[in-house]
Amino acid sequence: MDVRLTINGEAREAEVPGGTLLVELLRDTLEMTGTHIGCDTSQCGACNVMLDGVVVKSCTVLAAQANGASVTTIEGLANGEALHPMQAAFKAEHGLQCGFCTPGMVMAGLEIVRRHGTNVSAEQVAHDLEGNLCRCTGYINIIKAIVAGARAMAADTGGRRLMRDFDYQKPASVAEAVAAFASANASDGGAAYLSGGHTLLPAMKSRLRMPDTIIDLAGLPGLKGATRDGDRLWIGALTTHAAVAEDSTVKAAVPAIAKAALGIGDQQVRNRGTLGGVLANNDPAADYPAVALGLDAVIETDRGAHAADDYFQGMFATALDEGEIITRIGFRVPRRAAYAKFRHPASRYAIVGVMVAQFDDGVRVAVTGAGPGVFRWPEAEAALAGNFSVDAVNGLVPDASDLNTDIHAGPEYRAHLCGVMLAKAVTEAA
Ligand code: FES
Ligand code: FES
Repeated sequence: MDVRLTINGEAREAEVPGGTLLVELLRDTLEMTGTHIGCDTSQCGACNVMLDGVVVKSCTVLAAQANGASVTTIEGLANGEALHPMQAAFKAEHGLQCGFCTPGMVMAGLEIVRRHGTNVSAEQVAHDLEGNLCRCTGYINIIKAIVAGARAMAADTGGRRLMRDFDYQKPASVAEAVAAFASANASDGGAAYLSGGHTLLPAMKSRLRMPDTIIDLAGLPGLKGATRDGDRLWIGALTTHAAVAEDSTVKAAVPAIAKAALGIGDQQVRNRGTLGGVLANNDPAADYPAVALGLDAVIETDRGAHAADDYFQGMFATALDEGEIITRIGFRVPRRAAYAKFRHPASRYAIVGVMVAQFDDGVRVAVTGAGPGVFRWPEAEAALAGNFSVDAVNGLVPDASDLNTDIHAGPEYRAHLCGVMLAKAVTEAA
């Protein structure tokens, strides 16, 4: 396909296979090798670039998705021989050892300045570097460099393809998307909808998913933003986690949703990932399934609506039919609610996450990460219905025999974490 975009201020055009990642377009096609690839799992941030002004992982964005966009890479920062203040700060503060992670760290530094200003604190920088890994573990000087670079900006005036090929389509309406899915799904590899892409694209890189057609939903109108209607807070399916976290309507109606959104992945993930995408995928360790189930949500689609109690059907399984598109999600507004999770330190997925919500007619408790899929916890709900306090659930844990075991945690530990996260959520909500 023909991709046209602006890179570092210059119009560029390239003919690439449909499955080309943005990082592959940069490195392999345009020979701009300053942007690095450090992992296959979208976790290291070595590939960070600015896409239309916000930092993203270019290994997890299709070149096709960047069509028409403006991209800034590490090569676009210096002014001739004069380094950008953030680059100069890395040099002055010894913010690099082998230098492999440095382009991604510099771009992350620019995102931190964009979000927090040039007076950003070292603590904030340390927190916001959650999406970047340094294999030389030079974090102390990297943080110093970003703080120094931020201050300096205030004074400044001045070869491998990871994806197989597929057909890429970007419909302009829900009806067009459904029609495209139906016709493409008749082919051998089938079709897949693309929303934020942070689950689908890594799965495709590792060949766990091999659709012949990708249908990008980004062009569908009217599926972003939040509105309050009576006892429901409706959020569009294409609303990114970053947008949910910052939305004033969400914060006013159910602050626990905004807080949960802010805990998903890292800033790069939150800039791309969408609410609808997470619910359609239904990863057993994702946060939003617990939020939706705990808040008695309605998942509205192009062909009807699903109650959350019926929608989640186990690991990666939902009530969605082939080609059905989530359009918006209606969360029931509770009296009070909170979500607490014990997160995996690299992926930020929930080892265990617990959502607690109190309504006029009872309490709902939903657990993610612990079992093969999100589930309600009836014993906790019953205990809290009569007495919404930590005392009411003291020592309560679910049956460990139904829980997951993996390299991160066994079932007994997960059961223990359920009790701890439940108490934490109740304390926060109370
Ligand atoms: Fe590691 Fe992109 S290469 S996050
Ligand atoms: Fe070597 Fe960070 S300086 S990976």
